[in-house]
Amino acid sequence: MRIGLMTSGGDCPGLNAVIRGAVLHGIKSFGHDFVGFRDGWRGVVEGDIMELPRQSVRGLARQGGTILGTSRTNPFDGPQGGPENIAKVLEANGIDAVVAIGGEGTLAGAKRLADAGLPVVGVPKTIDNDLQATDYTFGFDTAVSIATDAMDRIRTTGESHHRCMVAEVMGRHVGWIALHSGMAAGAHAILIPEFRESMEQVSEWVREVHDRGRSPLVVVAEGFIPDNREEAIAGKGVEASGRPRLGGIGEYVTHEIEDITGIETRNTILGHIQRGGAPTGFDRVLATRLGIAAVTMASEQQWGKMCALRGTDVVRVDFAEALDGLKAVPRDRYDEAKELFGR
Ligand code: F6P
Repeated sequence: MRIGLMTSGGDCPGLNAVIRGAVLHGIKSFGHDFVGFRDGWRGVVEGDIMELPRQSVRGLARQGGTILGTSRTNPFDGPQGGPENIAKVLEANGIDAVVAIGGEGTLAGAKRLADAGLPVVGVPKTIDNDLQATDYTFGFDTAVSIATDAMDRIRTTGESHHRCMVAEVMGRHVGWIALHSGMAAGAHAILIPEFRESMEQVSEWVREVHDRGRSPLVVVAEGFIPDNREEAIAGKGVEASGRPRLGGIGEYVTHEIEDITGIETRNTILGHIQRGGAPTGFDRVLATRLGIAAVTMASEQQWGKMCALRGTDVVRVDFAEALDGLKAVPRDRYDEAKELFGR
């Protein structure tokens, strides 16, 4: 079999480990050969491919980013998009299967192509950990560990200056990164897209901590909506896909806290640092296992499915199951974290 791998959407530590796991397993166990599509669906639609021999994946498990490049191209857009054109590209290049490694948007495209009869399997990826049908996605653990380390540092400078410190982390629709990194760093308030809070309440938590002589740390996910606003702050134009580029909530929260409490407050936006650099050991293992599983699935022609983590097992699920809404932080997990706000 000749298998085409592609990585699409926002990049994520662990993508290269998937590619390595897939190529090594495919060559050794099945005698497959591999190509990579450059820059996500763009490479699939345009037939922009590169050969992936065994030596091309040497040392890749520890390397951040994706050697294939990525984009947010929609495989159905433009005159070249759509299943008929993609089928022709696969045939012209002798490609028997596509492994689509991506998040919700990528897998939605993969599902539509598989429904149209194309040989596509999926591997879930997102630092946001917001995909259904998988307990964890690789990249999340790395993002949490980078954010936690940053907050530990933010706290020491905050303590020196007796300031309140705000850290804005990624999380467009869900607050998993904020929840986990905030808990790990001992944040005094964690604000996430799933649940509204008033700035008066946040300021109250800040004041409690400041009154005890500590430096308050507030973690806010980029998609958090304060209870006096209609929608998330998106003052940074639009992405290629047309959706608004979020950002600015950290600044907003910082000003509100300073106005309400009079406590000097500073904002730090962690941004793309959370997605950069080497994956953690956990993410390397998960990504490698998923790469192996995806090739086994393709070998068995299990089109329209993706591999997923359930507990400690790698399982197969239909795309439809993975795309059944986003995996939001449930109320009880937020309330559990809230027990320590202001403490
Ligand atoms: O990968 C998902 C994500 O991390 C979101 O949380 C965030 O909104 C988005 O990526 C930003 O990515 P980019 O700036 O690369 O479009």
